[in-house]
Amino acid sequence: MNELDSELVAGRLAQLGYAMTREAGEADVLLYNTCSVREQAEQKVWSRLGELKRTKKTRPELVVGVLGCMAERDGSDLMKRMPVVDIMCGPGELDKLPELLDNAVRTRASLAGDQSASQAALQGNTSRRSQTLAAAEDRLELLDLSRTISPVDPDGGHRSSYVRITRGCNKFCTYCVVPFTRGAEIHRPPEHIIDECKRLADAGVVEVTLLGQTVNHYRFEHGASVAVGGVTQPQKGRTYKGSHHRDAFAGTSVTTFADLLHQIHEQVPGIERLRFVTSYPRDFGNDVLEVMRDSERICRYLHVPAQSGSDTVLRRMNRGYTVGEYLEFLDRARQFLHQPEIGRPLMLSGDIIVGFPGETDEDYQGTVRLLEQSRYKNCFIFKYSPRPGTVAYDKIPDDVPEVIKRERNNHLLAVQARIGEAIGNEQIGQTFDVLVEGLSQRQLKASGLTNAARKPRTIEVTIGGSAVATAPVVDDADQGDGTVQVTGRSDGDLIIHFDVDNAAHAKSLIGRIVPVEVVSASGLSMGGRLVSAD
Ligand code: 5AD
Ligand code: SF4
Repeated sequence: MNELDSELVAGRLAQLGYAMTREAGEADVLLYNTCSVREQAEQKVWSRLGELKRTKKTRPELVVGVLGCMAERDGSDLMKRMPVVDIMCGPGELDKLPELLDNAVRTRASLAGDQSASQAALQGNTSRRSQTLAAAEDRLELLDLSRTISPVDPDGGHRSSYVRITRGCNKFCTYCVVPFTRGAEIHRPPEHIIDECKRLADAGVVEVTLLGQTVNHYRFEHGASVAVGGVTQPQKGRTYKGSHHRDAFAGTSVTTFADLLHQIHEQVPGIERLRFVTSYPRDFGNDVLEVMRDSERICRYLHVPAQSGSDTVLRRMNRGYTVGEYLEFLDRARQFLHQPEIGRPLMLSGDIIVGFPGETDEDYQGTVRLLEQSRYKNCFIFKYSPRPGTVAYDKIPDDVPEVIKRERNNHLLAVQARIGEAIGNEQIGQTFDVLVEGLSQRQLKASGLTNAARKPRTIEVTIGGSAVATAPVVDDADQGDGTVQVTGRSDGDLIIHFDVDNAAHAKSLIGRIVPVEVVSASGLSMGGRLVSAD
């Protein structure tokens, strides 16, 4: 979600004449797009801002902005604690960034050195929360609609893109800040989404990942929604075949998530891979599984966080399902979608929080069992961190000692590593269609390139300067014998490396989908052999 926001902001600023740079030292404006989901991420931003204090003494005209969740959550507190910050802009008001930035740049330039005056001017401009929710939604939709889509660089440009379909979240899991930082759930009109997918495909993008915090809750009601007894009725007739059908019960015309997937798949054949994250384990109808099964270009991949393998903990987290219901869903998904015999096994990934308040050893053992039963190809494991503003922070004491959290975290990582490796070994001998993304990590290191050099995390902007070249240099890369190792992903999101005879050949494969036979497995990735590529 944050990556997409960064792309939208960078695109909008480029339209307005700002140029991007990879070198923080060259930038006149530094924007940090932040995440508040876990404390660790916030701490990194605080320390970067701390470092900037010194820089700003020598370069008073430098403009520093904090975007995203931290700006929404910490508000003016952040500006007080960190006077280096000129701009704050929450995820729900990114459409206003150009105005805020323009104001800050002018103020900084004219006041060079007079911090308090410039902040007063900026804060005057941040009386932005008064707008109505509807107006805010419309303006955010405009930001998504204004997305700059430039043709993909044929020499290794990124051919994967995100498309937002839902903003916000209504679930209020007791540990989570997202409903507060991103606001209530809003679904984008299907025609806007499909149009964005078409524009991306026309620009050369081959893989689209649809984004939503609870992506399978997508449901767009066309025209005025009909509320019965004050409550909008849930959709009754679940069938994607009618794609955007009339809801007989409520009398409205509805596009469900299944309809949306079907429509994108049918109307945008240029998207060779369609995926979506993150799924909520409840409310996942068979209609969606049927569309996935029947659509060649929809990936057999689901990211479905369970968070815990204990019913007591799940209840305390307010997740709204039991372990049994979660596992039943995975079974149902596997029945529809797990087809290794046609080279399309279903791959799953999950999220787990360890050390949630009150988590006993027994609860934790339940989580270990859940991992063993779920058989994720990979799982993101987090130690619980209390986030101010959430129900858990206010009402449930953080009583699991740090040392136990760390122990469970490390143990679970080891359990998952074993499962991941076993799944990898089961794939040996199988051939997958692999979307080639670029040089492998090993090759990047050998060539003195790092991933950080290819994908900046901050948006660094020069004013009046020119953008620095960014394409990965494949020509210079080889493993000493002329061969080059590249990496890519299967439609189930398995990471597969393979060797290509020379740099020019490697370059020609980037962004293409080619058949690769898995020959080895280790850790999180697999080794393969290119079967054929014309
Ligand atoms: N502490 C630890 N992990 C968290 N997550 C969300 N909030 C917290 C928190 N307070 C994790 C969840 C979620 C993922 C994005 O981050 O597992 O799925
Ligand atoms: Fe947070 Fe729960 Fe919403 Fe996910 S579903 S974003 S964990 S509140």
